[in-house]
Amino acid sequence: MKYLTVILINVILTITCAQDNSSTVIGGSCEGCEAVNDYGNKNLRWSDTIYGFDTMPNKIKISGTVYKNDGKTPAKDVILYVYHTDQTGKYPTRPSSKGWEQRHGFLRTWLKTDSKGRYEFFTTRPASYPNSTVPQHIHITVKEPNVNAYYVEDFYFSDDPHITSNILNRAKPRGGSGVITLKGNEEIKTATRAIILGLNIPNY
Ligand SMILES: [Fe+2]
Repeated sequence: MKYLTVILINVILTITCAQDNSSTVIGGSCEGCEAVNDYGNKNLRWSDTIYGFDTMPNKIKISGTVYKNDGKTPAKDVILYVYHTDQTGKYPTRPSSKGWEQRHGFLRTWLKTDSKGRYEFFTTRPASYPNSTVPQHIHITVKEPNVNAYYVEDFYFSDDPHITSNILNRAKPRGGSGVITLKGNEEIKTATRAIILGLNIPNY
């Protein structure tokens, strides 16, 4: 009986802790958000180039500013983790891939905003998942000091034929709208996006 009581107390404690945890995690549960810490000893900068940029077509540069929750003050030292599919819609891996790279592929990088809150990355435009109508997208996780990592809206492309009105008209986009518009006819098309920390993020 004593043994059963101990088990019962443990079960109750486990359930209570689980509930407590889910209600306080900023941004809610986020599978893969821990990959924001996967950069090893890479020296993070506010600007970076993702693998394949030099040799592949459909080059893009995405840049912008990360703001604090007031939407006005630039936020420095915020780590941004971005990853996306290749031009066949797959998250490409290589024999050396391990950890989250096996799921997210190697078309990824980590950036750290500078004193003006700026970020930018050069990459190639991703394709929809193979044989699907899933809109082209770039995933992004943010990690600001003293706050757990959470995801914000994926980057989406306004001229993507598979973009949906649901995405275009989201009432409460996480971190602000992720829909970007590419400009320019040069070899590299460019787009900008502002990110507001905590905006429409549960428990923030
Ligand atoms: Fe995806």
